[in-house]
Amino acid sequence: MSVLHVIDHPMIQHKLTLMRKEETSSKDFRELLDEIAMFMAYEVTRDLPLMEVKIKTPICETTQKMISGKALVIVPILRAGIGMVNGLHRLVPAAKVGHIGLYRDPKTHKPVEYYCKLPQGIENRELIVVDPMLATGGSAIDAISLIKQRGGKNIKFMCLVAAPEGISALQNVHPDVDIYTAAVDEKLNENAYIVPGLGDAGDRIFGTL
Ligand code: PRP
Ligand code: URA
Repeated sequence: MSVLHVIDHPMIQHKLTLMRKEETSSKDFRELLDEIAMFMAYEVTRDLPLMEVKIKTPICETTQKMISGKALVIVPILRAGIGMVNGLHRLVPAAKVGHIGLYRDPKTHKPVEYYCKLPQGIENRELIVVDPMLATGGSAIDAISLIKQRGGKNIKFMCLVAAPEGISALQNVHPDVDIYTAAVDEKLNENAYIVPGLGDAGDRIFGTL
């Protein structure tokens, strides 16, 4: 069963409040998103597998732990997910990156796919799908389905702000995928935007308002 992790460290809440403010510039918005993604990366990678390695300190030989297994894969949902990649990469520099392009149809609010490029060997790798917004859940559901169709199995979803509707929808369709979010907001409005939310994340990151 999917577990919901709300990563509400005071530093994250403070930075998220700054992001929500209407007057925050694109430059500040991008920088704050990058910083929060790095903080969240600590929790998302908490259960990475370890292996024992023999090393020599200046004092003696010893057996210690290092991350084992193949490099993990970060999969941003375009466009806004791109804003979370650098923060994760700072913690896990060897991570590979796949891209999935989806946009929500303005009338139906349903996601439309336009791009999918994933690294080789995803069936043996941990995958972290990233997108700041989990609104109806349609984009996250479709992105994760695309990854599963191509053999991905070990998948987590990381966002910044989630609506209760999106959490339920994603957990129903993909009960094996844990969700990591910095906040669970109140609801969706009539345009399927998160309330109070932070507006259109892609537009705020890339200045296309
Ligand atoms: C936003 C956001 C998510 C999606 C969430 O992208 O970045 O991908 O909406 O909504 P959902 O949970 O209802 O699917 P958008 O479709 O606006 O595309 P963009 O990133 O290109 O702006
Ligand atoms: N996409 C966004 O960027 N913001 C929302 O509130 C909902 C979907």
